[in-house]
Amino acid sequence: MIEGKKINLRMVKEEEIPLFVSLANRMSDVGDFWPHWFIRESQQKERYHKDNFWADDSGKLHIVDKSDKLVGAIMYFQSFTHIDGSEIAYRILRPEDRGKGYMSEALALFVAYVFGIKPVNRFMLRIFPENMPSKKLAEKCGFKYEGTLRQAMFHNGRFMDIDLFGLMRQDWQKR
Ligand SMILES: CC(C)(COP(=O)(O)OP(=O)(O)OC[C@H]1O[C@@H](n2cnc3c(N)ncnc32)[C@H](O)[C@@H]1OP(=O)(O)O)[C@@H](O)C(=O)NCCC(=O)NCCS
Repeated sequence: MIEGKKINLRMVKEEEIPLFVSLANRMSDVGDFWPHWFIRESQQKERYHKDNFWADDSGKLHIVDKSDKLVGAIMYFQSFTHIDGSEIAYRILRPEDRGKGYMSEALALFVAYVFGIKPVNRFMLRIFPENMPSKKLAEKCGFKYEGTLRQAMFHNGRFMDIDLFGLMRQDWQKR
């Protein structure tokens, strides 16, 4: 467990997978800035039994509040080949848990943890340009805007731009 002030990060528990899947699949709560793809409980359980969502070059932790209520998830993974860095994605599951500072804390803790245990040189975020909370929390954690992939993702019936944000280890160490 990684302890913060408002939230903790910890590994996924098998018994909370059905809750995670039902919250993650509630499309009305997903918001405009997360892909509207269903996730499958069977696939989540399979991954849990394989490695509990923690492999050599990727990993997912659950975000829980101080009463251990599941509030979200944060993960890192290899999205591009031939790039010495990893991508991070994150979500707070219920709309009522957003805007409480949970992800600002979770992202800072997660970045510090993975930089500490893995020789990752940089992290990247892909953010829809209109996703102001995500951009704001990225910048608060030291990420910098690096460019825009134009019309890179089909979402909500149209091709949308994606902004790239990056955080290099050397910049993070100077903070
Ligand atoms: C984006 C998301 C992860 C943010 O998590 P969160 O826990 O709600 O974020 P925080 O409460 O830590 O707030 C982040 C910052 O955004 C700010 N913010 C919130 N809504 C905002 C808005 N509409 N415009 C500008 N800033 C906003 C907050 O004030 C805060 O900044 P501050 O600490 O300086 O006040 C969460 O809203 C979410 O899961 N959304 C749905 C999925 C998603 O979009 N995931 C990210 C994909 S890149």
